[in-house]
Amino acid sequence: MNKKIISVLSAFVLAISLSSCSNDSEIKSAEEYKDTYPDIYATYKANEDMSETKFGGSVQVDYLEAHPNLRTYYEGYGFAKQYDRARGHVYALEDVINTERPKPGASCLACKTADFVAALEKDGVDVNSMDFDQFVADHQGMDTISCYDCHMNDIGTVQVTRDHFRKQIDAGNVNANNAKVDSLSCAQCHVEYYLDPDTKEVILPYKYGFETDDMLKYYDEIEFADWEHPQTGAKLLKAQHPEFETMMGSVHDSAGLSCIDCHMPVVENEKGEKFKSHHWTSPLKSKEGIKNSCLSCHAGKSEDEMIAWVEEVQQGVYDRTNEVSDELKAFIDLLAKHVKAGDLSDEDKAELQKIHRHAQFKWDFVWVENGEGFHNSKKAHQNLDEAEELVKQGLEILKKYE
Ligand code: HEC
Ligand code: HEC
Ligand code: HEC
Ligand code: HEC
Repeated sequence: MNKKIISVLSAFVLAISLSSCSNDSEIKSAEEYKDTYPDIYATYKANEDMSETKFGGSVQVDYLEAHPNLRTYYEGYGFAKQYDRARGHVYALEDVINTERPKPGASCLACKTADFVAALEKDGVDVNSMDFDQFVADHQGMDTISCYDCHMNDIGTVQVTRDHFRKQIDAGNVNANNAKVDSLSCAQCHVEYYLDPDTKEVILPYKYGFETDDMLKYYDEIEFADWEHPQTGAKLLKAQHPEFETMMGSVHDSAGLSCIDCHMPVVENEKGEKFKSHHWTSPLKSKEGIKNSCLSCHAGKSEDEMIAWVEEVQQGVYDRTNEVSDELKAFIDLLAKHVKAGDLSDEDKAELQKIHRHAQFKWDFVWVENGEGFHNSKKAHQNLDEAEELVKQGLEILKKYE
């Protein structure tokens, strides 16, 4: 990692955080850069690739099929209708438009297209709560995630374009002035968030920190819930792709890496010219990528050995996720039975509903994280252990009623 680039960029992102993204010029589409940056454009187009790896990749796996317990967890909420695994950036816009999940507002487009950012700038925060379909109908020809999302119209700088993320920098909840500043361009979308119930504004729950306990403290304090579970009556939270928060405090974060060190490896064109790949996908798909982004530190290992090592770490998290999932499912079923029977004391019922809320959030935080355990296996195991501990406490309370 080039120290000079880091310091230039950190100064730059900080500057942006103090100004704001006022850019009056039209948004340039990715295609307009096709001739100026042919190599980068070609890797950008490679985001259409739909291949997969052992635990990850870009095939749209139907999560509800693959993991039927999810139907119980998300009952009464949109994610029980359709929930597919993420694929490349070029599909972001069409995937949100086509999902069968109901959309609470136009702000669902906040992380799918820069045209929504432009609309927020132009028409103000009220666009967040506009009807989603109406907004899409009014804005024909929107671009999916493209150059503007990270560079605006100024290629050669990396920028934070999302107000919801800039606000966290300004509040001091995210330190933009450290070595991991490159990650911020990714973190503006690859994070846990919620929508303000009234304004539908995107907000990040960072007041107390990046851990699940910090977020639960915040969510409990503001009494936020995404929905109420129809069987247990618990007021639940849906965790969303917390890649950035998971990465924080990981071995690779401590080693000074950012998202782009692994996801935008330096590659070469036929003439031997080097550039940063703009194909954001599983690093395990490219041996050239593994060589250039991993082996500088993990010298002595081959590319295949690196893949096997990652998969071993992921397997451990995967198995534990399934184990705790079955325990959580059994707890929810039992709680639902007693809520239906109406035999719980008010105090126990409230406590059990809180346990459902907290345990499911911790489990979901690991399950929905797209690194499938790789980004921070220690944090993943810790959250799963804590979810399991909560479930045990819940079962202990329920014993009285069996
Ligand atoms: C040390 C290298 C490294 C760093 C740093 C890193 N990742 Fe990853 N990422 C990986 C690996 C390895 C996988 C697992 C890929 C797989 O399962 O095929 C992955 C998976 C992903 C996936 C799912 C990809 C897929 O195709 O399944 C996303 C999304 C992702 N990372 C985003 C991020 C973001 C955002 C950051 C920064 C906050 C980040 N990553 C930091 C190495 C890294
Ligand atoms: C404007 C929002 C946004 C930004 C900025 C963003 N992403 Fe994404 N990313 C998404 C969305 C949305 C998806 C899922 C698209 C889909 O499934 O339709 C995604 C998917 C991915 C995937 C999975 C691709 C696959 O093949 O499965 C990876 C990896 C990834 N992003 C990495 C990154 C990295 C690294 C950065 C920073 C350089 C970044 N993203 C910046 C929104 C964003
Ligand atoms: C998801 C965020 C993101 C998107 C979208 C994006 N870039 Fe980048 N781009 C980056 C980051 C991060 C860097 C690396 C900055 C650094 O070197 O630390 C970069 C670097 C570059 C560079 C410098 C080249 C190099 O090899 O270092 C160019 C040129 C560039 N991007 C052009 C484009 C073009 C053209 C598009 C659209 C087709 C685009 N970018 C889309 C994040 C993005
Ligand atoms: C800047 C140096 C550096 C780079 C680059 C780097 N790593 Fe690491 N990695 C470390 C350190 C330090 C550790 C912790 C000590 C150890 O286990 O070797 C680690 C640990 C790991 C682990 C074990 C993690 C766990 O949870 O047990 C895996 C797997 C791994 N790295 C894979 C990768 C992959 C894949 C890449 C490239 C995409 C990569 N690393 C790039 C420094 C690095």
